Amino acid sequence: MQLISRWGKCAAIVMLAAAAGNAATKLTEADFGRMPDGAVIKIYSLTNTHGVQARITNYGGAVVSLNVPDRNGKMADVVLGFDTLPEYVANPTQYFGALIGRYGNRIANARFTLNGVACTLPKNNGANSLHGGDKGFFTRVWTPRALPNGDLELSYVSKDGEEGYPGNLSVTVTYSLTDADELRIDYSATTDKDTVVNLTNHSYFNLKGAGSGDILGHLLMLKADRFTPVNQGLIPTGELRSVAGTPFDFRKLTAIGARIEQNDEQLKFGQGYDHNWVLSRTGTGSLAPAARMEEPSSGRVLEVSTTEPGIQFYTGNFLDGIKGKGGQTYPRRSAFCLETQHFPDSPNHPAFPSTVLKPGQRYRTTTVYRFSTVAAK
Ligand code: GLA
Repeated sequence: MQLISRWGKCAAIVMLAAAAGNAATKLTEADFGRMPDGAVIKIYSLTNTHGVQARITNYGGAVVSLNVPDRNGKMADVVLGFDTLPEYVANPTQYFGALIGRYGNRIANARFTLNGVACTLPKNNGANSLHGGDKGFFTRVWTPRALPNGDLELSYVSKDGEEGYPGNLSVTVTYSLTDADELRIDYSATTDKDTVVNLTNHSYFNLKGAGSGDILGHLLMLKADRFTPVNQGLIPTGELRSVAGTPFDFRKLTAIGARIEQNDEQLKFGQGYDHNWVLSRTGTGSLAPAARMEEPSSGRVLEVSTTEPGIQFYTGNFLDGIKGKGGQTYPRRSAFCLETQHFPDSPNHPAFPSTVLKPGQRYRTTTVYRFSTVAAK
């Protein structure tokens, strides 16, 4: 009996290490620069045993670089970003790699009503509020903590009333790089008053390598039968529309550029793709496949899984040639975002999955970006 229970205990320890999956990931810290008020900002490198490396700063919680191999083992940095902290501080509304909150994407007319009380938000996108306001989480200095297993934990306390949102919100985001070449992001939050929360990461990817031209030849598959059509201000109308027979049907791998210029009202409103897809999933809250992106020339593949009900696929329609890492420029449509999320403007759409968080509850979501390669076809 005793022997069995000892083995039992041992097996449990081994499994825990395997479940973490990243015990071999090396985590190092360096200075990234200083904020105008003198606060020192750090940059962390997470490197797995294959040499896959993510560099993340506690300014805005941004993923600064992500090096992954192509089908011949050649590494490239596949996310857009800047080389220096001052460039991040000067260009907040690019949202390069940043953590987005309290509310990812738009809230119509920069207001919503919660428990009968109107909450007014900053208007930073025409009449609407985008990505948590002017001083959203992407502009905040997060408190970093290097965990013994090689994960990076970032925390931030958003004060009651910050950017118009009610309740003190304590947020923790954990970045893990696993030996399965996955960048995993676990989001967690608690509040002391009823509020709304919708957190995401705004990495812009180009699987040929950041700064290597447009992404129109990338092939996309989205696990979604429906999307949320928008009005001219990119606010969902409330309809969940079937993708069948539309340029929004990515149920089979399709080139991003195959239909992007079609004469379609929704594509015109977005100036390309800038829409939320309703993920087809069984059950809620479990990690399920959401998207697959293949880049034919390099063979790089990105698979996204999430616990979230929606995903914003954005084709960098507003990129305008800004200068990024290594002096490279990022023209229009030179990157895509796959922002896992609750649907935009949910606080004004009672029929959408709720984004309300109450005291005593814990907001918890996970998104995994997994990199691999395919052979040439
Ligand atoms: C999101 C929005 C886009 C755009 C980008 C940032 O993806 O949906 O409309 O604002 O962020 O430029």
